Amino acid sequence: MMKPPIDHDLDPPGTSAPVHVGIIMDGNGRWAKARGLPRYEGQRRGVEAVRRAVRSAGELGLRYLTIYSFSSENWSRPAEEISDLMGLLKRFIRNDLAELHQSNVRVKVIGARANLASDVAALLGEAEELTRGNDGLTLVVAFNYGARQEMVEAARRLAADALAGKIDAASIDEAAFGARLDTAGIPDPDLVIRTSGEQRLSNFLLWQAAYAELVFLPIHWPDFDHAAFVSALAQYAARERRFGGVAPEKIAQSAS
Ligand code: IPE
Ligand code: IPE
Ligand code: MG
Repeated sequence: MMKPPIDHDLDPPGTSAPVHVGIIMDGNGRWAKARGLPRYEGQRRGVEAVRRAVRSAGELGLRYLTIYSFSSENWSRPAEEISDLMGLLKRFIRNDLAELHQSNVRVKVIGARANLASDVAALLGEAEELTRGNDGLTLVVAFNYGARQEMVEAARRLAADALAGKIDAASIDEAAFGARLDTAGIPDPDLVIRTSGEQRLSNFLLWQAAYAELVFLPIHWPDFDHAAFVSALAQYAARERRFGGVAPEKIAQSAS
């Protein structure tokens, strides 16, 4: 039987603007090293790039921006650098939270809270609490985050719910698993950007980015600006997302 013709006006090839962008903010240390500066200076300038990125995300009409700020594996860094990174996070929240709130940004934190210092955990909680009712950009801060750890935790929750008789093990599906991840209720990222030229995910949103487009930028994070964001979105717009299906042109050919 002939397939009905596809209406390409209703289903244009190419990809519109992303709803959710994830960013692996990498290369702060190398940015500093290239300038003969201490790594700390790169991390400090990285915070300025975060401010720019949040502003740009709003201007570019994104609904969700996830920033990978500290990974579960970053604990393997020297104690002094970890302490610098914790200090920068605290300063960022103390300095910028009021302005984020005024800009109608909703802050959501993903990652493990348990092994964080109490003042760090309290500030993250405060940022979420203050901005909970905002309906502008959702800024998802991945802090002490690792995708494998998040998925193991989801499995543990499912097992506990099954043991408690709240769910039937045979009925566990993708939605049940996704609902127990830290990102429950947040749409999957359409695009993941990584700076620094490195081409890997480093344990970032492994479940959620199953069908994300990946853009690797050859600049270090402190140099990320509005133009870099626009260029990443332009690369995204030129991609054709198929989700395992067949490109629209090919359907048209096989139908004729
Ligand atoms: C990204 O920059 C910041 C974090 C991972 C916290 P890096 O600190 O990883 O900088 P490079 O990759 O060593 O240059
Ligand atoms: C990924 O960067 C983590 C963050 C950006 C927070 P890393 O610098 O830790 O990644 P690897 O070690 O190069 O894979
Ligand atoms: Mg790095």
